[in-house]
Amino acid sequence: MQTLSLAFHNRILIITINRPDKLNALNATVIEELSATMDDVCNNPEIRSAIITGSGDKAFVAGADISEFNTLDATGGRALAEKGQLLVFNKIEQSPKPVIAAVNGFALGGGCELAMACHFRLAGSNAKFGQPEVNLGLIPGYGGTQRLAHLVGKGRALELILTGNMIDAATALQYGLVNHVVSPEELLTKALSILELINAKAPLAVAGAIKAVNAAFDTQLNGYDTEIAAFGALFDTEDAKEGAAAFLEKRRAVFKGR
Ligand code: COA
Repeated sequence: MQTLSLAFHNRILIITINRPDKLNALNATVIEELSATMDDVCNNPEIRSAIITGSGDKAFVAGADISEFNTLDATGGRALAEKGQLLVFNKIEQSPKPVIAAVNGFALGGGCELAMACHFRLAGSNAKFGQPEVNLGLIPGYGGTQRLAHLVGKGRALELILTGNMIDAATALQYGLVNHVVSPEELLTKALSILELINAKAPLAVAGAIKAVNAAFDTQLNGYDTEIAAFGALFDTEDAKEGAAAFLEKRRAVFKGR
């Protein structure tokens, strides 16, 4: 990997976007490498969950790489957004394994969008969020208009997108954009401890929950039907039988992901 560094801890893959001199901006290589890494997260049984964070103490990701914008026309711009959404942002959101963002500084434009594609977000107290594309004569293209509106509501999303203003971590917490704000030093530890808790649960139930909650935001689906189907399917798993048996036998369940 040229632009990502990967570390593995207790079956959690820590994905660090590693272009600190460019504030971890998302260029074509980052998008390709994130796409390949997400394939591994989804398909490698050794990986149970993942954290996405940025290298250095200044930025999570300061956006798409603006130096790649100059040569684009309407067709190229559309392809950039479409490819990114398909290969990375949607893949993260639809991952059956939890992916959380540990936002360690600027999360702007594509960086805010990357954090929002994750299942939930933790922020360091130094984090700053924004969608400043309007300053470039553009709008968010990696799903920001949709996910920000879902996460913080239409009015706040439009204010952020139309002004291009940044908000700090405390405001992001108040808006519901992030679940927790901790000191920068505690950020990774907090993310790991939440994922360790989730990793102790039945993986197929975790996957089913992600799928059903995602369906609440998919206008093509009836989320209640998705929930009913996922709930029902879990009764055929060994883990659901183990979960009920362990409860009745007053012992800790041992889940196998089957
Ligand atoms: N794309 C490409 N390069 C970027 C970048 C981006 N989105 N964001 C930062 N960089 C580069 C800068 O060009 C600079 O590179 P250089 O040292 O080779 O000149 C380096 O990262 C450091 O950034 P700099 O602007 O000097 O840091 P700063 O502390 O003064 O400002 C920001 C930090 C985040 C406020 C500022 O970098 C910024 O506004 N970035 C763009 C944010 C944006 O519009 N994102 C949406 C893109 S669609």
